[in-house]
Amino acid sequence: MNEEFKVTPWDVTGKVDYAKLIEEFGTEPIDEGILTRWKRITGSIPMALQRKIFFSHRDLNWILDRYEQGEKFVLYTGRGPSGHTHIGHLMPWMFTKYLQDTFDAPLYFQMTDDEKFLYKDSLSLKEAMAFSYENALDVIALGFDPKKTYIFSDLEYNKTLYRIAVQVAKRITFSTAKAVFGFDSSTNIGLIFFTSMQSAPAFLPSVQAGKNVPVLIPHAIDQDPHFRVTRDVAPKLGYYKPAAIHCTFLPSLAGSDKMSASRPETTIYTTDDVKVARKKILGAFTGGRVSVEEQKKLGGVPGVCAVFQYYYYLFEEDGAKLKERERKCMSGEIMCGECKLDLADRVASFLERHQEKREKAGDRIKDFVVSDYSAAYDRLKRPQDRKEVAKLKRTMKEYYSVKEGDSIRINRTRDLE
Ligand code: TRP
Repeated sequence: MNEEFKVTPWDVTGKVDYAKLIEEFGTEPIDEGILTRWKRITGSIPMALQRKIFFSHRDLNWILDRYEQGEKFVLYTGRGPSGHTHIGHLMPWMFTKYLQDTFDAPLYFQMTDDEKFLYKDSLSLKEAMAFSYENALDVIALGFDPKKTYIFSDLEYNKTLYRIAVQVAKRITFSTAKAVFGFDSSTNIGLIFFTSMQSAPAFLPSVQAGKNVPVLIPHAIDQDPHFRVTRDVAPKLGYYKPAAIHCTFLPSLAGSDKMSASRPETTIYTTDDVKVARKKILGAFTGGRVSVEEQKKLGGVPGVCAVFQYYYYLFEEDGAKLKERERKCMSGEIMCGECKLDLADRVASFLERHQEKREKAGDRIKDFVVSDYSAAYDRLKRPQDRKEVAKLKRTMKEYYSVKEGDSIRINRTRDLE
């Protein structure tokens, strides 16, 4: 067994021990008490909670208390647009969609193109912004409510975010940033500041409402260091601490560690040609034996099998059917080839449907995206005709009464500085 693993906001390697992470990060496990409460409030327990795909949280009971007392919460999540979306990214977003539907909650969705530009040597500013747009198509394709969903790129919404971010930044010392993120003297200073940009959307709903609004952040556990900082700073600025619910990572098709955009052979992108995706699945690591005879005799090992993990995480919602598949595998009744083909079919039909919706999302982007309007950035990102620009301007005006070059009037919770 590989005991070594590492989980930071920028790097996840090795076989992750999630129980250990709960301890190290100081979060709370999703336990029976929460599940029972969840069922009482919402009527059922979604697959992601049942299977402990979302396994940990901070202050979930607090946000449910608020909810039960009639105080609505806002959802906040995001994406670091360093490349195309893969199906591992969709997992927390699908759960977020479920949360939006179930709790009738608005969603703020941050594209941290600034972060990815700062972190990744080879990524240009323009590419990062283009991926913000590309990835937003995947978010929209999942069916979020356009009336309640605000997607923004840091590089385009910075005027609004920066005013909150500087207030956060003023309360974080370099020594805290070093301790939390492991920064050293060779870290570029943009990255050191960045955590305050990721904190900003947690307070934005309160700034806009002019009163404290509870916020729940669904996210993969690797982002917890950022939100520890956010939560530390929150009371100093007069805001609620955001609550959070954390998910595990979808393993790569090679088994063990998380699906990684930097290893395309073992990762399924939402933009993959269906044939390519099939091929990747047929080449996946399984828990099979060296020969059919061996497998029939000894059975497979679903615990280490990437294919089984895909059923578990995304492609077999029916708990009884999942159990049956596991049993058949372990008793040698089903061979890896069959299991892979079946998964390939499911992934292919999922991709076909997703890609269709993704295509249509291009026309709906304006219904979702908020930005501090800037014609220059917009031209950089994608060419637009004048009519389109005018329309976008009108939308922005509605949100923030922004005139080009104007400062933005936002209602503050209280005058902080
Ligand atoms: N930094 C995150 C990433 O690299 C993106 C992100 C920004 C995010 N805000 C978030 C993720 C809130 C989850 C929740 O993926």
